[in-house]
Amino acid sequence: MNSGTSFDTTLAALAGQLPRWRLRAVAEIDSTNSALMQACRQQAEAQLLVAERQTAGRGRLGRHWTSSAERSLTFSLSWPLRADTPLDGLSLAVGVVLVEALHPALRLKWPNDLWLDRRKLGGILIEAIPGSAVVIGVGINLDAPTGVDQLVAGLRELDAGWSAPLALAAVLPPLVALLENWQGFDAGWPARFAARDALAGQTVQGDGLSGVAEGVDSAGLLRLRGDDGGLRLLRSGEARLRPLSEVRA
Ligand code: BTN
Repeated sequence: MNSGTSFDTTLAALAGQLPRWRLRAVAEIDSTNSALMQACRQQAEAQLLVAERQTAGRGRLGRHWTSSAERSLTFSLSWPLRADTPLDGLSLAVGVVLVEALHPALRLKWPNDLWLDRRKLGGILIEAIPGSAVVIGVGINLDAPTGVDQLVAGLRELDAGWSAPLALAAVLPPLVALLENWQGFDAGWPARFAARDALAGQTVQGDGLSGVAEGVDSAGLLRLRGDDGGLRLLRSGEARLRPLSEVRA
């Protein structure tokens, strides 16, 4: 486990708490998600892979994920699945765990962007090998990245003392607890998501849809009250919605 990275001391301290997990840090990699997906195709295991730097970080919907060493935290977890493990809403629950672990001011923009003051502070990329493993990738800005065409934020706006190892130490134990105890989104997660939901009650628009966001259902689907009064349930990835205030801005 001694990799010569800034994470070594933190991982050594966490190893005793997480005996079932393989904890690994690397200085540089293309993408921690890609690496764990590849590893899980050979053998699914409970593993953390954290990188100081990613050269080809991947975001949702085929986007690139921009991050840099010492200014962000980038890691992935792989977790073996049973055939009957429900995956609906898992990415929302991951978002809930992250914001609860990091700061009371953080909010979630459905499905799983972490927001600070309506600016993106982090994101989650979940990929699955059906019936075998799930890989959960997390990217958190410590400082807002430059050169991205989005409003962005960083954890150090809240407290200049945040470092990537400290942020990892804050989020890893509750994420492991989530995975080890996961029984589906309806087991208590809708209320916890609602407490951090940045879109609830907002008029949103995108991909030909528009309406008022009315929170999520017991499977994590977004309840969208359309302009015609009808209710639509949207799956993650089905529409990229933004609050109307920001579409006009
Ligand atoms: C998004 O908001 O689009 C999701 C971003 C997820 C980025 C993380 S960084 C660690 C892991 N490895 C990747 O290549 N992507 C995820």
